[in-house]
Amino acid sequence: MDFKSVMESLDPKFLKRLKTAEVEGVTLIKDTVEQWDAIWNFKARPDDLLICTYPKAGTTWIQEIVDMLQQGGDLQKCARAPIYERMPFIELCPPKPIRTGFEEAEAMPSPRTLKSHLPVHLLPPSFWEQNCKIIYVARNAKDNAVSYFHFHCMGKLMPEPGNWDEFLENFIAGKVAWGSWFDHVQHWWEAKDRHPILYLFYEDMKEDPAREIQKVAQFLGIELPEPLLNRIVQHTQFESMKANPMVNYTTMSPAFLDHDVSPFMRKGTVGNWKEHFTVAQSERLDDIYARELGNSSLNFRTQL
Ligand code: A3P
Repeated sequence: MDFKSVMESLDPKFLKRLKTAEVEGVTLIKDTVEQWDAIWNFKARPDDLLICTYPKAGTTWIQEIVDMLQQGGDLQKCARAPIYERMPFIELCPPKPIRTGFEEAEAMPSPRTLKSHLPVHLLPPSFWEQNCKIIYVARNAKDNAVSYFHFHCMGKLMPEPGNWDEFLENFIAGKVAWGSWFDHVQHWWEAKDRHPILYLFYEDMKEDPAREIQKVAQFLGIELPEPLLNRIVQHTQFESMKANPMVNYTTMSPAFLDHDVSPFMRKGTVGNWKEHFTVAQSERLDDIYARELGNSSLNFRTQL
């Protein structure tokens, strides 16, 4: 049975918001924590490519860009399956009988492109041992938090978000799934000096997608003639992806993702946080940012 049929066979009554638990002080989904040994011992292969992000930083966007590059811009090949089937999400442990992300990955022939949201120190060590290439995308904390809040509202299995004010407090405290945004972006930033990691920013991708796609192609050693580049820019712009069922998550059961609450492809902009943050919340986040990341060479833009 494929993923969609399995999902449809599940009785929505039994699908409840998931709980969280911790691994080494990092908040994760409890079902992931229960499978932690298997995830930690995941066997990466040398030709694996890993796409890693803090949730809602533009994962799906970079995934489609990478697949377009890998498939030579062939739209039919990119439409072979929804994005979540093309690139297994290794630490995802959905309700049974759906296979876990690591089981999906194990069953996949090489070369594989995999997805993860894990912080650096929780990434299975085989990725470092095999010297796998990794693409990391970071997004400014304010837009990232707003996007994550809406995803909790529409993601019916995501942990209970509370209201926006409550969610923001949990986000700032790192008490949301996949832990502290501050630690995540900073530790991956430091890791890029020790490993083959391409570190990209959502805001740069919005500002000049062609420039950022060229960086990805160069990192992957893929030739990128101009017509191909133009095709990828066009196919991966927000409006195209919003209309594309192979990337917009409308193929998932509404019991999992309810697009009537908020579409997965929601705004796709830089600066939408201004419609959610109060002045006090914005100043508070700025203060915490300065304390946590003030000495880092990392630079985020909250508007273009
Ligand atoms: P918003 O909620 O701010 O709209 P992820 O894929 O990591 O879950 O991230 C989802 C976020 O990326 C959503 O942000 C979504 O709209 C945005 N996004 C997805 N594809 C995009 C694209 N092609 N261009 C710009 N933003 C995109």
